Amino acid sequence: VILYIAISIDGFIAGEDGNVDWLSSVDNPTQSDNGYQTFSETIDTTLMGRKTYEQVLTFPCPFPYAEKTNYVFTTQQLEVGYSSVRFVNEELEHFIAKLKQEKRASSKHIWLIGGQQLNRNMFQLNLIDRLVVAILPIVLGRGISLFGSMHIDPQQLRYLETHTFPSGCVQITYEKK
Ligand SMILES: NC(=O)c1ccc[n+]([C@@H]2O[C@H](COP(=O)([O-])OP(=O)(O)OC[C@H]3O[C@@H](n4cnc5c(N)ncnc54)[C@H](OP(=O)(O)O)[C@@H]3O)[C@@H](O)[C@H]2O)c1
Repeated sequence: VILYIAISIDGFIAGEDGNVDWLSSVDNPTQSDNGYQTFSETIDTTLMGRKTYEQVLTFPCPFPYAEKTNYVFTTQQLEVGYSSVRFVNEELEHFIAKLKQEKRASSKHIWLIGGQQLNRNMFQLNLIDRLVVAILPIVLGRGISLFGSMHIDPQQLRYLETHTFPSGCVQITYEKK
C-alpha cells in the first residue's frame, strides 16, 4: 500500500476549504507530470476517503481512475456511480489483509490516494507500506495537513530515494521500518 500524494512545503494536501487548485497553479514550464504516469502504471487498485472521491467527481474530466479498481471508504449508503468504484465500510486492517490476499497474483500496487482522514486511519494502524510525498514549491500557510493530529509515538521511516523534476517538485520515497 503506497500513499502517493502531493504536499506543500508546509505539509498541506489541500487548502483550508479543501481546494487543490494550487497543485496546477505551480509554475511548470516543461509541463512535467512529476512522475505521475510512471507511478500510475505500477498501480491497479486505489483507496480513497468519501470526501476525496466526491472532490474527484467535480474535476472537469472523466473519472481519472476508471481503469483501476477503486475502493471508496464511507459509512454512508451511497449511490453506485462508476462500475470501477466500490463503496467500503469495513474494518481497515481486515479489509487490507483480504485485499492483499486477493491481489497476491498481481505485481501491481495499491495506491492510497487520501485524504487526511483516511491517511490518518491507515497510518495509525501501520497499514501504509510506502510513502511517496511529492513536495511542490509552494507554501500554503493553512489548510488540510497530510495526517492531521495523531496520538502516536514518533515513527521513523526508512528513506529510499528522491527524484527532482524541472517544476521544482521533489518526490521523496520512504518505507515503513
Ligand atoms: N494533495 C493531494 O494529492 C490530495 C490527495 C487526496 C486528497 N486530498 C485532499 O484531501 C481532502 C479530503 O480529506 P479529508 O480528510 O477531509 O477527507 P477524506 O479522508 O477524503 O474522506 C473522509 C471520509 O472518508 C470516510 N472514511 C474515512 N475513513 C473511514 C473508515 N475507516 N471507514 C469508513 N469510512 C471512512 C468517511 O466518510 P463518510 O463521512 O461518508 O462516512 C469520512 O468522512 C480534500 O480537500 C482533498 O483535496 C489531497
